[in-house]
Amino acid sequence: MDKPLKIVAIAGSLRDVSYTRFAIGVTLKEAQKLGAEIDCVDLREYNLPFCEQIKNEKDFPKDYFKFKSKIDNADVLIWGTPEYHGAYSGVLKNAIDLIGRKEIENKLIGLIGVAGGSIGATNSLNGLRLVARHLRAWIVPHHVSIPSASSKFDAEGNCIDIDIKNRLHELAQTLVKYGNLHK
Ligand SMILES: Cc1cc2nc3c(=O)[nH]c(=O)nc-3n(C[C@H](O)[C@H](O)[C@H](O)COP(=O)(O)O)c2cc1C
Repeated sequence: MDKPLKIVAIAGSLRDVSYTRFAIGVTLKEAQKLGAEIDCVDLREYNLPFCEQIKNEKDFPKDYFKFKSKIDNADVLIWGTPEYHGAYSGVLKNAIDLIGRKEIENKLIGLIGVAGGSIGATNSLNGLRLVARHLRAWIVPHHVSIPSASSKFDAEGNCIDIDIKNRLHELAQTLVKYGNLHK
């Protein structure tokens, strides 16, 4: 039997209560229901250096290799980011810079952006789309921008806005459908 589709998300916020992580959680749960194997890289749990901070890869902390192999072994990636000053977060970009093209090239990628304000996270999403395209990934057209994020989730991370919830589920459905075809 074919191995299940493996979806790995990277949560680009280091906040203890993070709407980015909540949004990823809702998406991954739906993907799991559809048969995917899921994982979320919570960057708070990884001791990663800044890109180019350490010269030789052999001197990198263990977490770097753990992170890199998770990304390498994924069929599909989700990049989730908060909107910071009109762009995606630095921690997410650093994580992407650390791994680079070999691990990302040809993977299917879904994007989620979360914003405190009412305009949403389209700048982050469009920026990440350029980064993913540069790395020759296949970015699905449907992405999810979540404006006024603090009003969209309850304390347990459930999405209480039906439109946003539907969009996150639709992203999961797209990633599973096209991820399996792509695989
Ligand atoms: C440095 C910084 C810059 C921010 N810039 C914006 C912004 O440009 N637009 C916006 O809507 N919210 C902005 N916010 C608010 C965050 O998008 C909001 O707090 C979001 O929920 C953070 O994601 P998280 O909950 O996953 O940590 C900013 C927050 C920080 C810390």
